[in-house]
Amino acid sequence: MNAADTASSPLLAPYALAALDLPSRVVMAPMTRFRADRRGVPTPMMAVYYAQRASAGLIVSEGVWPSVQGQQYLTEPGLATDEQVAAWRTVTDAVHAAGGRVFAQIMHAGRNGHPANRIDGGTPLAPSAVPLTAPMHTLEGKRAPVAPRAMSTAEVGQAAADHAAAARNALRAGFDGVEIHGANSYLPHQFLADNTNLRGDAYGGTAVNRARFVIELAEAVADAVGAERVGLRLAPGNPENEMVEADPAPVYRTALAAIDRLGLAYLHLTDGADYPALADLRPHWSGALVGNTGEHEVTTLESAERLISERGADLVSIGRPYIATPDLTERIAAGVPWSLPEGDFHYGAGERDYIDYPRAVPEPAAAVRPPPRAPDGLLGKGVNRTARRGRRTPWRCPPGPRTGGR
Ligand SMILES: Cc1cc2nc3c(=O)[nH]c(=O)nc-3n(C[C@H](O)[C@H](O)[C@H](O)COP(=O)(O)O)c2cc1C
Repeated sequence: MNAADTASSPLLAPYALAALDLPSRVVMAPMTRFRADRRGVPTPMMAVYYAQRASAGLIVSEGVWPSVQGQQYLTEPGLATDEQVAAWRTVTDAVHAAGGRVFAQIMHAGRNGHPANRIDGGTPLAPSAVPLTAPMHTLEGKRAPVAPRAMSTAEVGQAAADHAAAARNALRAGFDGVEIHGANSYLPHQFLADNTNLRGDAYGGTAVNRARFVIELAEAVADAVGAERVGLRLAPGNPENEMVEADPAPVYRTALAAIDRLGLAYLHLTDGADYPALADLRPHWSGALVGNTGEHEVTTLESAERLISERGADLVSIGRPYIATPDLTERIAAGVPWSLPEGDFHYGAGERDYIDYPRAVPEPAAAVRPPPRAPDGLLGKGVNRTARRGRRTPWRCPPGPRTGGR
């Protein structure tokens, strides 16, 4: 690819997203990275990590739990306590100081939770008492999954209220908006799917009933912070974490018929290997559409561009390349290939493989703003560890099933 090709990349065109003027169509996809402390409080290295990636058109944060009932891992951050809100403020300030924009992704684990992974040791809550079968990752190693307890109707309403409260906390923490995580096997997806929703009340059974929770959730969060500050992520047909959706179209079309009227900032849609979500659902969504290729293939420059030029997306979210390519948009403009992370980065901890990936394109003078500099102690007081470590080995997809963190 030469410089002339990259200059015309549709990814680099600006985009007006609700109240935000995005400098490009590139969204950094939400990626759980487990760098909070054991109370779900963001750590200083998280401010460095996100600020390093501030040139994205928009950053969507890793999944953040709205309540302890929705917590999935001990080192996953929350947006439920004042301490968490204050620590997130240092992250959002760093991103804004570096010229970026950032939404918080609100992620409720539902049946993906485990007592060993919750501060309160509580039993996970889900639409129905359908356990996972695969062992679950905990800080003490793999554990057998625990059957969730089916939510009462009142608890369904409480879960929506918790999302709304977390959204208000996100704005207090300086986020530009929130994304509801309705994809990849998380709580709203568990209501939408066939095998995880066996309810006999108004939230189960027909397509209308299975879509009810995600509709009410979108309404509650939009009421709390304003629809223009809310995105919704869906991944119809994604079989991750043992989800089964034989025929996603009727349920998702029903959901979008109601949610489209709310005027949300965007819909973030993952294309399935088996169900062409973008092609099928684009006609049912009149607002901004963020496309994602899904985890069955790592996004490339070419596949990202095709999401816009051929598949109806306005913006594209990019995940794994962003782990190792902090200057991803600058590399598109300069025609420099993206880097991919090495090893199993899914359950990492600490600074290594987190804030030590170098830029390939120097920051333009005009774009240089106050820190993202690592505070003392981060990366050995400014030592670029990656440069010392030299050439990285090519990235390989880690083997075996994973439970959550998506
Ligand atoms: C390490 C890792 C963590 C992830 N965590 C989340 C998450 O918290 N929320 C979410 O919606 N998706 C999550 N995802 C899925 C990504 O957002 C994205 O959809 C996926 O990686 C496919 O895009 P890519 O090919 O560009 O990586 C995660 C993916 C990875 C690799």
